[in-house]
Amino acid sequence: MNDLMSFGIHRLWKRYAISLSGVRAGQHVLDIAGGTGDLAKVFSREVGRNGHVVLSDINAAMLEVGRERLINAGCNNVDFVLANAETLAPFDDESFDLVTISFGLRNVTDKDAALKSMYRVLKPGGRLLILEFSKPVFEPLSKAYDLYSFTALPVMGKLIANDAESYQYLAESIRMHPDQQTLKQMMQQAGFENCDYHNLTAGIVAVHRGFKA
Ligand SMILES: C[S@@+](CC[C@H](N)C(=O)[O-])C[C@H]1O[C@@H](n2cnc3c(N)ncnc32)[C@H](O)[C@@H]1O
Repeated sequence: MNDLMSFGIHRLWKRYAISLSGVRAGQHVLDIAGGTGDLAKVFSREVGRNGHVVLSDINAAMLEVGRERLINAGCNNVDFVLANAETLAPFDDESFDLVTISFGLRNVTDKDAALKSMYRVLKPGGRLLILEFSKPVFEPLSKAYDLYSFTALPVMGKLIANDAESYQYLAESIRMHPDQQTLKQMMQQAGFENCDYHNLTAGIVAVHRGFKA
């Protein structure tokens, strides 16, 4: 469904986010709301055998799909941990060089709590990357995008996944999600420094980045 709905572009968005991660061999990476592990799979290769990746999600069934996929891909430096992004309870303070959350923050109810938890588990000098739907910066595109989201998406969801409601929710959750500037401010309030963001596909998606001093 991701490929179909985004015309395959989600792969380019993820690749771009990874290119901003600065990940290096030997580092410790946490991918929150990691689902089927698209990012964790790449990080596993990048950090190498002296590094370590945790694929984490709140949903046990989703995590199991990710586990199976990454084990089949030969990723043997990855752990799989059930965790709510709001607390990240299983993780110690200052334990990761890089924390990522891709198309996950939108689903988290208490985003401020989640951002504070992400800050807590990062080592000093570590960075957070958030890849998420955002606010299109070009008005005509914004109208076409709204039409696509609220009409085409639920129909595609119904026809292909037999689930119109989830795709109606997807459109609504995108509309409700904080825009670029608001999310940047929320990151700063959680303690992050040097926060910036990069719009992708005219702001349909944005990558936010912040650092722990
Ligand atoms: C759209 S998927 C994104 C999966 C993957 N990160 C990607 O980019 O393909 C959203 C994921 O967020 C997870 N999720 C939702 N609420 C969460 C929360 N409070 N804490 C952690 N994960 C959560 C869901 O279980 C789901 O796997």
